[in-house]
This record gives sequence, structure tokens and C-alpha cells, in this order.
Amino acid sequence: MLKMKKISTLLLTSVLTLSLAACGSGGGSKDAAQPSAAPANSAAPTSAPASSNPQDDIQPITIKISHVVAENTPKQKGAVAMKDEIEKLSNGKIKVQVFPNSQLFGDKDEYQNLVANNVQFIIPDMAKLVGNDPGFNIPSMPFLFNSDKAAEGFWDGPKGQEIFKKLEKDGVLGMGFWPNGPKQITNNKRPIKAPEDLKGLKFRTQGGQVLEKVYATLGAGSVSIPFNELYTALQQGTVDGEENTFSNIESKKFDEVQKYTTVMGHTRVDYVLLTNTKFWNSLNDATKKIVEAGIKKGTEVARTEANALNEKAYQTLKDRKKTEIYVLSKDEIAKFRDALKPVYDEYTPIIGEDVIKDAMSRE
Ligand code: LMR
Repeated sequence: MLKMKKISTLLLTSVLTLSLAACGSGGGSKDAAQPSAAPANSAAPTSAPASSNPQDDIQPITIKISHVVAENTPKQKGAVAMKDEIEKLSNGKIKVQVFPNSQLFGDKDEYQNLVANNVQFIIPDMAKLVGNDPGFNIPSMPFLFNSDKAAEGFWDGPKGQEIFKKLEKDGVLGMGFWPNGPKQITNNKRPIKAPEDLKGLKFRTQGGQVLEKVYATLGAGSVSIPFNELYTALQQGTVDGEENTFSNIESKKFDEVQKYTTVMGHTRVDYVLLTNTKFWNSLNDATKKIVEAGIKKGTEVARTEANALNEKAYQTLKDRKKTEIYVLSKDEIAKFRDALKPVYDEYTPIIGEDVIKDAMSRE
């Protein structure tokens, strides 16, 4: 796993090398497992590599990307940008299929299927990875990051990268941080304006001990439910509420089944783009360079789109008028911050004081 800046430099160099090579000035590395596609060329100097066109070395593979959210989200925009870049740079030799909306795998089974290489990329909400390392609770720590940029700085930095590395024992590689953004609270019972308003309500969470603690601290119950079952759970009253980003609330029409929304931004949905080592190690250099360029493009697009899509979705929710929106004032937010301090008391030692300190220092 490389830091984004390093990846950028590496990929820029790689793509330049590929373009130059495509003009006839270079040769690609050959994978012993791949048949040589280069025609014998008697006119070529004897010192020339076996294949003068790196396009010949690109493995004709199909890559599957699976995720659980709708089309109008930063995750889908990033995945499609990744697909387009890979297919463009490989002249269609590498095919990429993107499966949104849990069409291929849902929250419960996407990780195991990644490990088994039934899918080559997934982009889970980190709250769904907390069983692998408590560091994945970082986006669930109340009011920790002030912006997508602050979260990016942390996950691109050494502490964030160390947390991604914890997945390597499963044969899983963290290839990049993709933000979605701050979460807001929705529910069907009453407007939430103060910590006491949550008492006795039951919330769905994405999962994880910290989110459970957040609700318990506020006197509410919580249960983790997969994303693709959430609309029905809200509609049938299995839970009273949930927390999510504007783009997820709007694109899945949760406002149809949630009377109240409170703009709070207390926790975040943040993703890590994951692949598996079985797939990654099967790629030769020429193929890997193109996939890396796709990852770089997808990451850029997801990062650029996240905030804009949330803003747009917020406006759509206001226009649709199905859910009553309440925006907490600074003073009201301060009350929630105070009420949620016990979450830090309990989880700072578990996640690591150095990790929390690094995250808090990001702007
Ligand atoms: C959720 O389950 O609410 C979100 O994590 C879905 C997602 O991937 O954004």
C-alpha cells in the first residue's frame, strides 16, 4: 500500500512510460504466465525486448467492483471513473464491471468474497471493518474531523496507513481512502434538538462498538442492520432512526420513511478501497500500472464528488419536504460534544492515544 502522493508520482511516471512505449520507444515487462503476443520481428535489433508494445503485455482480464450504495453517490462515481480509466488505458483489453446497490454482494458477505477473490474491489464503510482493527472506528468518533480534507490527511498519513495494513493478514490490501462525509440523524418519532431527545429511541447503525457506545451514552438503543435492508427496517419500525450522509439518505429515499432529520455531522461515513493479494499478485507490471492509474483516477473523482453530492442531496431533501429538517446551532452541538465525551474516555486507549491525537491534529 502506498501513500497517495507516492502513488501519484509513481502512476504519472508509469502512464508516461506507457505512452512513450506505445509510441515505440520502450518495452514492457513480461509475465512468464502470459503467452507472448509480440510478433517475431526480424527487422528489430537483436537487443530489443521480445515485446516492443506494452499493450501486448496487458492481461485480458475482467475486474469486478462491488458496493452497496446507489448510483448517485461518491462511491459509484469513483468506481465508474476507475472503470473508464482502466478500460481506456488498456484499449478495452481489461474489462471492469461495477455492481452498485448490493447487486453482487451486500454488507454481510462482500469482505469474505473479496478474500476469496470472487470480487476484486470493494469499498466498505470503515464502520463495517471494526472487527479487524479498532482503528476503523475513527470515522465513528464524535466530531473528530471537521472536513473531508482532515479525514483525507489522516488516512493518507502514517497512522491511517498502519490501520489499513492490519487487513494484510487476511490477504486484503487498502488501496486508498474515499470520503463520503458527515452523518446526520434521522428518525420517525420526534425532532432531535438536544441529547435527551434520543432517550428511549432505537437506532440502526452501520456497526461497531463506538457507534453502539454513542447511542448508549445518549440513552438510546442501537442495532446494526445491512444497508440494503435499511429502508424496510425504517418503514416497518424495526428501528426508529438511523444516521447517514445526505447523499445516502437522498439516494435511498429514507426521507420517505423518516419524519425528522437533524443536521448534526457528529460522525462520518468514510470508505477504504480494498483489493485482495491473490488478484493483485496475479497482475504483471503492465497490467498493474493501468489498474493503479484507474485507482488514482477513481480516488480523485470520489474525493472531488463527495462534498458536492452531499450538498446537492441536502438541497433535494429540502425541496422534497418529506422530512422535517432541523439544523443544530453551535451551542446545541456543544451540548452533544459534552454528552459524548465518555466515548473518548473509553475508546481513546483502545484505538490508541497517538492515533486519536494525529486525527485531532488534521484540518
Ligand atoms: C450504511 O450502511 O449506511 C453506509 O455505510 C452505506 C455506504 O456504504 O455508504
